[in-house]
Amino acid sequence: MTEPLVIAAPAKINLTLNVLGKRADGYHELETVMQQISLADKIYLQTGGEGIRVTSNCPGLPDNQDNLAWQAAQLLTAKFSLPAGLHIFIEKNIPIGAGLAGGSSDAAAVLRGINAGFGLGLPQDELLELGLALGSDVPFCLLGGTALARGRGEILTPLPEGPCLEMVLVKPDYQLSTAEIYRDFRLDRVQDPPDNAAFLEAWRKCDIIAVAAQMKNVLETVSITRCPEISAIKQQLQDLGALHTLMSGSGPSVVGVFISRAEAMSAWGIMRDRYRESYQVSSYNRGD
Ligand code: C5P
Repeated sequence: MTEPLVIAAPAKINLTLNVLGKRADGYHELETVMQQISLADKIYLQTGGEGIRVTSNCPGLPDNQDNLAWQAAQLLTAKFSLPAGLHIFIEKNIPIGAGLAGGSSDAAAVLRGINAGFGLGLPQDELLELGLALGSDVPFCLLGGTALARGRGEILTPLPEGPCLEMVLVKPDYQLSTAEIYRDFRLDRVQDPPDNAAFLEAWRKCDIIAVAAQMKNVLETVSITRCPEISAIKQQLQDLGALHTLMSGSGPSVVGVFISRAEAMSAWGIMRDRYRESYQVSSYNRGD
């Protein structure tokens, strides 16, 4: 690999998230629709130097083995005895600890980048398996687009392109630990789980109103207990005309879906003065 490689690492949101139960391995059995969005980190890969080095434009980001991008590079360099010396620069645009799979997407980009840059020729299914060893969201980040995910999140059914979702994404100034939210989750307290069959039907018909009505996440009430600001943001987005609002993953990011880009832009104009980390984002398809 002589030239530096630049790879986009888009964030994901969950359009639905249902937990079916706790597994013997400690993880939770999920049924969730995942969607890539236009907000993305940028990964620069360059060979040279000693060992694996991670740098970024984000002061709080780990630059060592705690970073999933580092782990992804380590996994492939060890497995395929690649020449030591790789520099990973992460241009961080996705908020951290936000339920947006930023770290997983960076790891997926490193796997794809090394696979291409070193001509490893690993097929998609092998990359997905390696990705799962790094985290539950990594396989989806490798696949991209929109997908129904089951199991830990790795049993993926790609979905056809649906309606273009124009959204405002807001992250309160608070980070949540995914492990802690799952630990607090109680299946017997779930009141309004998503109906994924109804969601998929609406999705296939590109019926944005019906899609929005089916967007539900059973972790939302759990995360609101730790971060009540999630409720306040949902209310504000609704007051600004959102068709629907939903927390992504284990939170605390919230998205509001709007009927048009113009409506989303005008709501964002107001929210960005209230919340430092607010973005106008759109759904992102495999072909984008
Ligand atoms: O797989 P990953 O390391 O991203 O997951 C972080 C944590 O989230 C896990 O340690 C687990 O506590 C929780 N989790 C879960 N069930 C899933 C995915 C994640 O319980 N399907």
